[in-house]
Amino acid sequence: MMRHLRVPKQKTQSILDCVNSFEWSSKGYRVLGDGEFKLIPLGDNPPENLPEPLNQYEEKEAEQSERIPQKWIGYLPQFIDEEIISLHEGGWPNAQEPLGDILLFKIEKHLEQYTQQVALAKITHHKKVRAVFRDHGVKGDFRIRELEPLAARLDNQILTSEQINLLPESVREPLLRTETLVREYNLNIKVDPRKAFFSHRLQSQRVHTVESAIKLREMLGRPLDIADPYCGVGPAFSHLLQIDDLVGNILACDINPDAMPLLVDNLKRNGVDVSLDDINTNQLQTSGNYIGVRDALTLTKDTDLAGKYDVLLVNLPHETVTHLPHLIGLLKTGSPTLVRGWLVSPENEISNLSKELQKILPHPLEGSPIVKVERRTQYNATEWLCRFEAWLELPN
Ligand SMILES: C[S@@+](CC[C@H](N)C(=O)[O-])C[C@H]1O[C@@H](n2cnc3c(N)ncnc32)[C@H](O)[C@@H]1O
Repeated sequence: MMRHLRVPKQKTQSILDCVNSFEWSSKGYRVLGDGEFKLIPLGDNPPENLPEPLNQYEEKEAEQSERIPQKWIGYLPQFIDEEIISLHEGGWPNAQEPLGDILLFKIEKHLEQYTQQVALAKITHHKKVRAVFRDHGVKGDFRIRELEPLAARLDNQILTSEQINLLPESVREPLLRTETLVREYNLNIKVDPRKAFFSHRLQSQRVHTVESAIKLREMLGRPLDIADPYCGVGPAFSHLLQIDDLVGNILACDINPDAMPLLVDNLKRNGVDVSLDDINTNQLQTSGNYIGVRDALTLTKDTDLAGKYDVLLVNLPHETVTHLPHLIGLLKTGSPTLVRGWLVSPENEISNLSKELQKILPHPLEGSPIVKVERRTQYNATEWLCRFEAWLELPN
């Protein structure tokens, strides 16, 4: 039995907030109904005499059912013995990547045998998730993910991978679809991590790209022609296109053909007039946009594209530095331009990389800071995902 406060229904939220504001409050218990009143749980350890204004309300003892876990791991005991859970304490995979209505997680080798149970605990906790996958990491040049389906929710029932396999194909296929809509700030991005690269972790980078682009537009006084030669499904443009008159012509390409339907969807969603047929022609469109499958290293050979862009985004983190010299020719000459790039580097090489970039990117814009590689997020045990921003003015 637990002590509860009996409050009129319309006071429920304010009294609940008040209870929660005290450090003795404990989360995870349910507010119960009691006729015209609500019973607000006082938790495991309330003071004997309640403070103002809580002491104005009648108290009532009531039964609380099981506490609702606050984290996925709270559900793990439903699937694995407590002893095993505590044996591996600290090793269970707390990190996960929600992408729209699917959820991806990685698990260390030594806990692999519990992957199914972990997936079930995660889907039980994440009530809006349709399917949970083990993420075996990004593979190949296209950086696409190998995903193993482990649990799914069908008509409010949670299914194991074995149960999923027994479903007819017509039910299983849509249930395990990895194409999904991801919400970033106030916009939606269509992704499919099995077909094309996408990382939610870069969303704040996209916001900074917009901020820097706005600065450049102020200098130039007109919309910007923007090149994103490794654009994937086009998340950078999704953000840039939110701002009226920020984007002029775009160059959006990727070497992965499977990224194209997603890219076209995301561009159309933000008002760019393009169809899959247009991009198959592999030509500059009458609109002035260039969208298609392309090896970025060959772009400057195209006289329609060379020297045409105010902004260049370079997001091929393992090869950014080697590709960059082949891309500078895309930038306009004789006016301020901006290059933003991302790269992966061990900590002790970051300062050398800054020097290297200063050589690759000469002609800084007068009054702008020199190019510097800055750490952003830890990439793995030894390396960082870094970012640089270069303001240039290339001579005519
Ligand atoms: C790290 S992802 C970045 C994708 C996107 N910019 C984003 O932020 O979501 C790198 C992308 O570069 C593409 N890629 C790899 N080599 C390429 C090349 N030589 N030319 C064009 N794209 C390439 C991959 O297919 C992948 O989509």
